[in-house]
Amino acid sequence: MSSLCVMVALVLGLWESSVANRNCPDLIVDSCHCSAERSKELSRQQPLRVKVVCEDVDLMDTLQPSFVPNTTVSLNLGNNKISLLRNGSFYGLAALEKLDLKNNLISTVEPGAFRGLLALRRLDLSNNRIGCLSPEMFLNLGNLSKLNLSGNIFSTLTVGLFTHLVALRVLHFHTETLFCDCQLKWLLLWARSNSVRIGNDTVCVFPTRLHGLEFRNLREQQLRCDGPLEMPLFQLIPSQRQLVFRGDRLPLQCTASHLDPSVELRWRHNGQTMTTQEDRGIYVEETLLHDCCLLTRAICGSSLAAGRSLSRSLSAGGALG
Ligand SMILES: *[C@@H]1O[C@H](CO)[C@@H](O)[C@H](O)[C@H]1NC(C)=O
Ligand SMILES: *[C@@H]1O[C@H](CO)[C@@H](O)[C@H](O)[C@H]1NC(C)=O
Ligand SMILES: *[C@@H]1O[C@H](CO)[C@@H](O)[C@H](O)[C@H]1NC(C)=O
Ligand SMILES: *[C@@H]1O[C@H](CO)[C@@H](O)[C@H](O)[C@H]1NC(C)=O
Ligand SMILES: *[C@@H]1O[C@H](CO)[C@@H](O)[C@H](O)[C@H]1NC(C)=O
Repeated sequence: MSSLCVMVALVLGLWESSVANRNCPDLIVDSCHCSAERSKELSRQQPLRVKVVCEDVDLMDTLQPSFVPNTTVSLNLGNNKISLLRNGSFYGLAALEKLDLKNNLISTVEPGAFRGLLALRRLDLSNNRIGCLSPEMFLNLGNLSKLNLSGNIFSTLTVGLFTHLVALRVLHFHTETLFCDCQLKWLLLWARSNSVRIGNDTVCVFPTRLHGLEFRNLREQQLRCDGPLEMPLFQLIPSQRQLVFRGDRLPLQCTASHLDPSVELRWRHNGQTMTTQEDRGIYVEETLLHDCCLLTRAICGSSLAAGRSLSRSLSAGGALG
């Protein structure tokens, strides 16, 4: 009796997987689920509308587009570990209308990443690590009507970013570091003149005087750049007081938001800007710009005098120049 149950379960399992395979015959990632339905017109000639779901299955990369049926209308790759979208990552999926990439680790979106997605209407890139955005990353998305960029790491968006998105109707771009100043004035005007609705979740975080206000309700004059300097992110690593022994090589790292080209990082000690002093074994690294929105500068001592208080005063002295 029990062996019969196992048999039945096995047969059922095989049957189910062959159904999944029938809709996506070439897809080798077996944790993906494919379903298909005829479009409502009920015409036998109409192609099947295929939906592919590969959610929360630890994918590190997008699916090879040639393995996904070209009749796929919806592709859900949310909640995975994808970090890079390459030029042509989805090329060939000309019927795709909805693409969900939320909750991944995407930090790089190459120009042409969505090339070929001529029918795409909804794109969800929310909750990733995107800091660098360029108009070319939206090439070919002439039919896109809804875009969600919320939950990424940028603080601002550059002029003309959405030039290729001629059909855009709804846009979300809330981030924890969203800076509503003169650099976003263009977006307010562009959204109004192109009838693009900005989601009510998109609220300003900085500057303090606009904190919590919905971006779409702002007046043009509120987007100014004459306030006091505020840093969405300013971080020292290690953040705690450190004891450094002679001969230790302890790098101290300072990271701050790159709001505009005038932001500069300097290390100071006793009021003096620190520079590399090889004879004292002190090395100040060049400022590094990463993800287009963060600056990092490290200082490192290989023979800091038994650093009872040196590192502490360095941390305290990580000042904005
Ligand atoms: C989709 O793939 C089929 C073969 O699987 C091919 O015959 C058809 O031309 C393709 N359609 C498009 C639009 O590429
Ligand atoms: C993307 O790749 C295609 C095909 O290789 C190439 O023609 C195109 O120039 C690339 N696009 C960008 C924006 O780099
Ligand atoms: C873009 O949208 C329009 C209007 O819905 C539609 O007629 C057209 O076929 C779409 N373009 C593509 C390439 O699917
Ligand atoms: C956009 O993404 C954010 C963050 O994931 C989410 O809270 C919000 O509901 C999304 N908006 C829409 C319309 O999908
Ligand atoms: C924001 O928009 C959503 C969907 O459009 C709506 O359900 C919600 O009530 C709105 N919230 C506020 C505070 O206006």
